[in-house]
Amino acid sequence: MTDANTPMIAPSILSADFANLAAESAAVAHPGDTRADWLHVDVMDAHFVPNLTLGLPVVESLLKATDIPLDCHLMIDDPKRWAPPYAEAGAYNVTFHAEATDDPVDVARDIRAAGGKAGLAIKPNTPLEPYLEILRDIDTLLVMSVEPGFGGQKFIAEVLEKVRIVRTIIDSSDLRLLVEIDGGINADTIEQAAEAGVDCFVAGSAVYGAEDPGKAVAALREQAAAARARVD
Ligand code: DX5
Ligand code: ZN
Repeated sequence: MTDANTPMIAPSILSADFANLAAESAAVAHPGDTRADWLHVDVMDAHFVPNLTLGLPVVESLLKATDIPLDCHLMIDDPKRWAPPYAEAGAYNVTFHAEATDDPVDVARDIRAAGGKAGLAIKPNTPLEPYLEILRDIDTLLVMSVEPGFGGQKFIAEVLEKVRIVRTIIDSSDLRLLVEIDGGINADTIEQAAEAGVDCFVAGSAVYGAEDPGKAVAALREQAAAARARVD
């Protein structure tokens, strides 16, 4: 977990109004328990996933509009070429997909050299085992709990086995990486994910579909903390 042992919430702007991103990010930026820990930015290229969202120019504008650290989730081909510029621009965390590269360590090294934290994402059907030996080379492991591409999908609980395995490894070592989950996280699913050992929870529709996004952030974090406390 993080130093404070408090679960992190990363609202996904995929479910926000793309014409009002400054206001949408401000809705979860007030100091206090309604503040998001990271703002999750889903970059899709219509090749790696069958959807197209936004890219570096929008991220550069968002960086000027908010002081919340940006968590860029790159659902794109060729991350070796496209990922480091997000870190150079000032994104806090830059996550690329394991399925999009033959050399994740090389991509992670480039992201770190560009000043970012390096995240590795794995799709629901991608096994964890091949990546256990490179945990030292990444800062975040993003376990996808839906097929990447769209918000508002149903949570795939089977992926929690991967979370449990990596949580056990981290807790019995000096590794410092964060475990993040993305897809279908809401009031019905966040507790099981917290119990499995997730540090950071991405939530799109559960935050931006709520009447008050800030309150949704606070409520999800509290729910995760209570669930985590039950198993600790
Ligand atoms: C899906 C994206 C997710 C998405 C999550 O490909 O990576 O970040 O925004 O949306 P919800 O929380 O609605 O499942
Ligand atoms: Zn995402």
